[in-house]
Amino acid sequence: MSESLRIEPLRRVDLRRCAELERALFPADDPWSESAFASELDWGHFYVGAHTGELLIGYAGLSLAGAPGDMEASVHNIGVDPVWQGRGVGKALLRALLERADDERAQVFLEVRTDNAAAIALYEAHGFATIGLRRRYYQPSGADAFTMVRPARVQEST
Ligand SMILES: CC(C)(COP(=O)(O)OP(=O)(O)OC[C@H]1O[C@@H](n2cnc3c(N)ncnc32)[C@H](O)[C@@H]1OP(=O)(O)O)[C@@H](O)C(=O)NCCC(=O)NCCS
Repeated sequence: MSESLRIEPLRRVDLRRCAELERALFPADDPWSESAFASELDWGHFYVGAHTGELLIGYAGLSLAGAPGDMEASVHNIGVDPVWQGRGVGKALLRALLERADDERAQVFLEVRTDNAAAIALYEAHGFATIGLRRRYYQPSGADAFTMVRPARVQEST
């Protein structure tokens, strides 16, 4: 990946482009609209965007819930422009989410289509393990999902 990749907090002006990428990435599974992304920001969820120059080429979001010291995180979405896939952008986005979760010492959950080999490989490489199967989780396709979890990272005291 070129050195110009920037991972930054997602801005409201990015949301139209996020919805455009969703339609390209998830045509069979009810892609999120611009207003759905806006609701995510309204809720205060943690969203980052990947930019090269002025172009948004990826996005990812995480929610955090629970009391301090007992937090759970959930990956809501992650997507990379098909033109830019396979160049480390997804990895950089996921790592930004995991850093945020690690700041809260939160375990991290996600769902992923059982046929999504690229995403499953990405998650396994970052400490996620499959803990369950949710049948017909995605609609309208009816595709199944694995639930995956990454244990909380407890920092060593010095
Ligand atoms: C999954 C996705 C976000 C990965 O983003 P990416 O920028 O292409 O991935 P990266 O180049 O950062 O690769 C990171 C890791 O993902 C895995 N990976 C990526 N593409 C892969 C492929 N075609 N086959 C197998 N593994 C793959 C590898 O583990 C890779 O690590 P490596 O390069 O060290 O081998 C991207 O493919 C995407 O947007 N897919 C469509 C949307 C989607 O499925 N989102 C996930 C929903 S749960």
